[in-house]
Amino acid sequence: MAQEDVFKKIVSHCKEYGFVFPSSEIYDGLAAVYDYGQNGVELKNNIKQYWWQSMVLLHSNIVGLDAAIFMHPTTWKASGHVDAFNDPLIDNRDSKKRYRADVLIEDQIAKYEEKIQKEVAKARKRFGDSFDEEKYMETSERVKEAREKRDALHARYAEAMQGPDLEMLKQIIVDEEIIDPISGTKNWTDVRQFNLMFATEMGASADGAMKVYLRPETAQGIFVNYLNVQKTGRMKLPFGIAQIGKAFRNEIVARQFVFRMREFEQMEMQFFCQPGTEMKWFEYWKRVRRAWHEALGMGTENYRYHDHEKLAHYANAATDIEFKMPFGFKEVEGIHSRTDFDLAQHEKFSGKSIKYFDPEKNESYVPYDVETSIGVDRMFLSVLCHSYCEEQLENGESRVVLRLPEALAPVKCAVFPLDKKDGLPELAEQIVDELKFHFNTHYGDPKDSIGKRYRRQDAVGTPFCVTVDHETPKDHKVTLRYRDTMKQERVDISQLRSIIEDRVSITSVLKKLGEEIKKY
Ligand code: GAP
Repeated sequence: MAQEDVFKKIVSHCKEYGFVFPSSEIYDGLAAVYDYGQNGVELKNNIKQYWWQSMVLLHSNIVGLDAAIFMHPTTWKASGHVDAFNDPLIDNRDSKKRYRADVLIEDQIAKYEEKIQKEVAKARKRFGDSFDEEKYMETSERVKEAREKRDALHARYAEAMQGPDLEMLKQIIVDEEIIDPISGTKNWTDVRQFNLMFATEMGASADGAMKVYLRPETAQGIFVNYLNVQKTGRMKLPFGIAQIGKAFRNEIVARQFVFRMREFEQMEMQFFCQPGTEMKWFEYWKRVRRAWHEALGMGTENYRYHDHEKLAHYANAATDIEFKMPFGFKEVEGIHSRTDFDLAQHEKFSGKSIKYFDPEKNESYVPYDVETSIGVDRMFLSVLCHSYCEEQLENGESRVVLRLPEALAPVKCAVFPLDKKDGLPELAEQIVDELKFHFNTHYGDPKDSIGKRYRRQDAVGTPFCVTVDHETPKDHKVTLRYRDTMKQERVDISQLRSIIEDRVSITSVLKKLGEEIKKY
């Protein structure tokens, strides 16, 4: 099945099984805004809990924070967001649609790339086993032409994005004869800069109202609280502050479901250290964060680093952790060595000293910062994309199963009475009442067949199902069914907790991660 189709299926599965709904759907939704349903919120909370505990439980020198979404507007002057948090946009006069100029050009580069891949695939089919891809790439005239066009475009694009040079971006769109996919015309406006922050007003009277922004990243809440936390917590460098919270960006091109939204959630940690040690910590956090992803068991081959060649003016190193989504390797997390830029800017704009007195060096300085920043929603999407699986079974039936990492599954265990008779529902409820204090356990009403109930739990990724049958009142045993293998075994009711708890607890993943981190 084409990856595009797989992705469409994942999106509709999310809606059908209560993971993600379009926001305010009864009013036809709101572009690039989504709501998390009954299963989605559990999965999301588990991701957040795993992240939070990996930061503040596994690291004795990291503490948490929950800063407000609204911040003093000068914060965003100091951080550079008012002047530089822009995307270049362009409108098509016929369709009246707005696009990101850089995305239109990147799509054009991708078209050349696609052309090259198609030529290679055709040749592979033609030549069979004797096909030498490297040689073909060097000798095929059609491939050479497409590569030259792609490389030339890439070079012009990279040059135009320095600054950026808006006229040059427009010229590229004209020269490449890029058409609007809706109107089919090349009737473009000039390229303009568009600030991505949402603004609103605070205060009752029109005169006294103050323009405030919805934060576009959670990081600044940490920077402006650096001194509060350092002093009240008597923190010594190096130390970190972790925060989970909503962020808002008026994305021009919001696409790929929850991958790029206008309201999303970030999990960010700022690690403050002595100047000169930041590269050591940058390398440390690169490894620790990748280990965090890999401990979930979603395949090491599905992750890669993307080191940034072009760095933001405040950074001296940056990398992304990318995950293989159905639409290619995409950024899920960024690790940035931000130097002393943010704290120094807030020191300058607030006029207050944000220096750290180092008792060992007997001097004061502005600490350097290494940031780890991951989007909860992108993490959620990567987990779902990896877990979604359509299986053909031996008996000719098929099933859709979410092979979620067990510790992240919304429901860990579902308990079913085989039917309504002989006190089976009451017995099943008793088992739920015992297990629910240890992990998320659901009762499954006997109105559907047992097979249907298993399929429904497979579709939401429940790792364990327990069936109470007519033998249970006599022998106190139940049938335990495993999601991934569909293996069933008869176990004593008293064993259920110990069999399931360890496998579904976030603690067991954290222990694995803790062992890995000790090596770094
Ligand atoms: N404080 C640094 C920062 O915000 P970023 O690369 O702009 O850096 C960090 O964002 C992470 O936030 C990204 O790796 C991504 O996971 C998530 N993210 C950013 N924009 C997003 C959007 N529009 N929708 C969903 N997630 C987003």
